[in-house]
Amino acid sequence: MSDKTMTLIDNRTGEKYEYPILEGTRGPAAVDMRSFYKDSGMFSYDPGFTSTASCKSEITFINGEKGELRYRGLPIEELATGHSYLEVCHLLLEGELPTEEQLQNLDLELRHRAFLPEGLVRLSQTIPDDAHPMSVMSAGVTALSAFYYEHLKLETPEDYREMAHRIIAKMPTLAAFAYRHSIGATYIYPDIDRSFTENFLYMLRAYPGGKMHRDPDGHREIKPIEVEALDTIFTLHADHEQNASTTVVRSVASTGAHPYVAISSGISALWGRAHGGANESVIEQLRMIGSVENVDKYIARAKDPNDPFRLMGFGHRVYKNFDPRARILKKLQDQLRDELNLDTELMRIAQRIEEIALSDEYFIQRKLYPNIDFYSGIILTALGLPRSMFTPIFVIGRTVGWIAQWIEFKKDKESKIARPRQLYVGK
Ligand code: SDX
Repeated sequence: MSDKTMTLIDNRTGEKYEYPILEGTRGPAAVDMRSFYKDSGMFSYDPGFTSTASCKSEITFINGEKGELRYRGLPIEELATGHSYLEVCHLLLEGELPTEEQLQNLDLELRHRAFLPEGLVRLSQTIPDDAHPMSVMSAGVTALSAFYYEHLKLETPEDYREMAHRIIAKMPTLAAFAYRHSIGATYIYPDIDRSFTENFLYMLRAYPGGKMHRDPDGHREIKPIEVEALDTIFTLHADHEQNASTTVVRSVASTGAHPYVAISSGISALWGRAHGGANESVIEQLRMIGSVENVDKYIARAKDPNDPFRLMGFGHRVYKNFDPRARILKKLQDQLRDELNLDTELMRIAQRIEEIALSDEYFIQRKLYPNIDFYSGIILTALGLPRSMFTPIFVIGRTVGWIAQWIEFKKDKESKIARPRQLYVGK
């Protein structure tokens, strides 16, 4: 037996199965089990894929025990504070940070591609105005596969780049239109003189005709600190290894469907409150708890095995330590507290939950820590964004990660159609 293999013994028959151990450049090794069924006639059983590596990837690395996150090898702490979201987009798509010229070209291209086809604008107006913006995002991106059907056939690196830049550029516009539609307001088209992140706030806030000014209901000119905060939030959400929605994107990629319906499937998967929808639920939950005095009662409910109540924004499949993105958001919250009149009551409730949970045996034993969603909502609320827009903002940040993972899947010579099996327990 070589020292680079693992041997499984079927103790019913003494049969031995030997498999290669694959070493990555960071993190756990993997046992190459792809011939296990052919060799043994048995399946491995792993509901929720807790111990399964579905692919090889060079994009994002997470160390759950240490609470470490890297995009293309660079630590998230450095990227979130020292680089713009557009630089991170280039890093995720191309594998390294852009030169000044590459960054300018990307910035210009995304500004030009921010507009939606007029047919899609009309289509979005047929959706009920009380629809959740996430349903508009998912439907809108599926419709984009009709307007840009040519992306079904990608040949050159330029084809891939154009397809990727197009969907990244249009996502904020689609999100802003979904919001404006939900409040019965006219759409504000992208302003080509504004940067990616500032443009999103502009399309949400401007008055018809594009006017921005201070007035009683809070419509206000966009402050640089708001653009910086939102840009950091986009960066923190940009990619996250093989999470549920990225797994869906790769599965749809494996059938050969249009790249934009893979992204639309990712949007639908992200919407769930166990995943990206948690950021909206965290604020709902903090509001429901209502005061610091009520926190103990809800912590008790979260610990009660007979109570389905869970602390939204807590726990993570991979992080068994603080989510590094949560740490960065917590620091950002402290910096913004005065500048953006953060809702200090909600912050106090959140801090009380964190204090108790991090010292309570139930959470310690299960290694449940605050995740990215626990803090993002308070900052987004301070940016004047309604709760219904929190997950669409997650979508804007994550689109580059989904498309980078989609492209990596397409170029992976080992990729096959996603087709797991089952343990049949029926009649
Ligand atoms: C995101 O995967 C990613 O990378 C996702 C994401 C990304 O960037 O793509 O990081 C974004 O989705 C963050 C997670 C947002 N979701 C929430 O905040 C929802 C609340 N969290 C949970 O639903 C849960 O923690 C999950 C879904 C996040 C993780 O679920 P797991 O890994 O399947 O863990 P589990 O459900 O098996 O829980 C293990 C134990 C259980 O207790 P026991 O049965 O062992 O007694 O921990 C308990 C759970 O009951 N538990 C919680 C809890 N989360 C887990 N108890 C109370 N409150 C919680 N939030």
